[in-house]
Amino acid sequence: MPFGLVSAWKKRRRSKSHDQIDPWTYKPVEYWQLEDQNPSTKRHHGSSVFTLREMEEATCAFTEDNFLGKGGFGRVYRGILRSGEVVAIKKMELPTCKEAEGEREFRVEVDILSRLSHPNLVSLIGYCADGKRRFLVYEFMHNGNLQDNLNGIREAKMDWPSRLKVALGAARGLAYLHSSSAVGIPIVHRDFKSTNILLSANFEAKISDFGLAKLMPEGQEMYATTRVLGTFGYFDPEYTSTGKLTLQSDVYAFGVVLLELLTGRRAVDLNQGPTDQNLVLQVRHILNDRKKLHKVIDPEMSRSLYTMESIAMFANLASRCVRIESSERPSMADCVTELQLIFCTNSKGLGMAMHTFRMV
Ligand SMILES: Nc1ncnc2c1ncn2[C@@H]1O[C@H](COP(=O)(O)OP(=O)(O)OP(=O)(O)O)[C@@H](O)[C@H]1O
Ligand SMILES: [Mg+2]
Repeated sequence: MPFGLVSAWKKRRRSKSHDQIDPWTYKPVEYWQLEDQNPSTKRHHGSSVFTLREMEEATCAFTEDNFLGKGGFGRVYRGILRSGEVVAIKKMELPTCKEAEGEREFRVEVDILSRLSHPNLVSLIGYCADGKRRFLVYEFMHNGNLQDNLNGIREAKMDWPSRLKVALGAARGLAYLHSSSAVGIPIVHRDFKSTNILLSANFEAKISDFGLAKLMPEGQEMYATTRVLGTFGYFDPEYTSTGKLTLQSDVYAFGVVLLELLTGRRAVDLNQGPTDQNLVLQVRHILNDRKKLHKVIDPEMSRSLYTMESIAMFANLASRCVRIESSERPSMADCVTELQLIFCTNSKGLGMAMHTFRMV
C-alpha cells in the first residue's frame, strides 16, 4: 500500500492473518478460562484474576463518572478495587464480527504484559474473563495519555524539559522491549503512538497497549505478514509496502511521536488540507534546516525553557527515526543515549541542574 494513501487514514485497519497459529503468543483457550473465582488468586507472574462482580463494584457498574476514554478495544473506566487500589479498567466492547480479533488482542496483552516489568511500561494488575466478557485491569495513570496533554483536552501545555523527559522514558520502555532482557526475546510493540503513552502523576511516561505486539525470536529479524496492523500516521512505510515487520517499525513510530512532541501537532490531522494531513510529510524537509526549524516548534511551549541547540539535536534525531529505509534509522538504544545528551544540552544551556526535572 503506498505510504501517502496509508497516512491519509486515521483509524486502525485490521484484517485476517496467520497469527492465530503462532505458538509464541497465543495460549490454549483452557489457559484463560476461569475455573478459580477466588479474587486473591495470583497467576502468571502476578496478574490477578478478577470476577465480573469485582469489575462492576470497582467502577460503580461502569458509571459515566468513571469513564476515562474510548479506544478501538472498548471503553476505559477508573475503578477502585476491594484492596483500595485505584486502577483503570478496559472493557472489551466490540461488534460480534470483531470479537475474535478482540479476544486475540486480549490474550496477547495478558500474555506479554504480565511477563514484563519496567518503570516505563504500564503495569497490568489483572484481568477478568467471564463468558464472552473481557476486562483488563491496569495501574491508573493520573495524567492520561500524551496526545491529550499535547493537543487535546488538557489545558496546561507541557514545557520542553517535560517533553524531553517523556521522550526519554518512552525510548527506555521501547529499548527494553527491543532488547532480549524483557522475555528473552525482542518484542515489537507495533502500535506505538501518543495515545499509548500514558503519564503518571509526575509525568513519567509509560507505554501501554500490547495487544498487537509480536515476539521476534533470535535470528528472525523480520516477520512477514499479509496484514498490516497498527495505527495510521505511525506506519513504517517499509512495513506497509512490503509487509515486513521489524524492530525498526517501532523506531519509525517513535520518530512520529518525537515530531508530535516538537510541534504539538497530531500525527494525522484530518482538519488540514490533503497535502498537510500527515505530520511527517509536512515537516520532514525542514527538520535539518536550522534557519527554518523555528517554524515547526510548538508555539505553546515556553520560550524560556528550551535552547535552540537541543531543539536542533532533537529534530535531527526525529528525522533519522522517520527515514524511509528502516536500516538507516537508529536503534532504540541509540535513541536513549542521544536523548540523554539532548536533555543535558538543554539543561546546561539554560543553566539548570539536572535534578530540577527529577531525571533518573
Ligand atoms: N491505565 C490508564 N490510566 C488512565 N487512563 C487510561 C489508562 N489506559 C487508558 N486510559 C485512557 O483511556 C483512553 C482510551 O484508551 P485505549 O487504549 O482504549 O484507546 P486509544 O489508545 O486511545 O486508541 P486505540 O484503541 O486506537 O489504541 C486513553 O486514551 C487514556 O486516556
Ligand atoms: Mg491505547
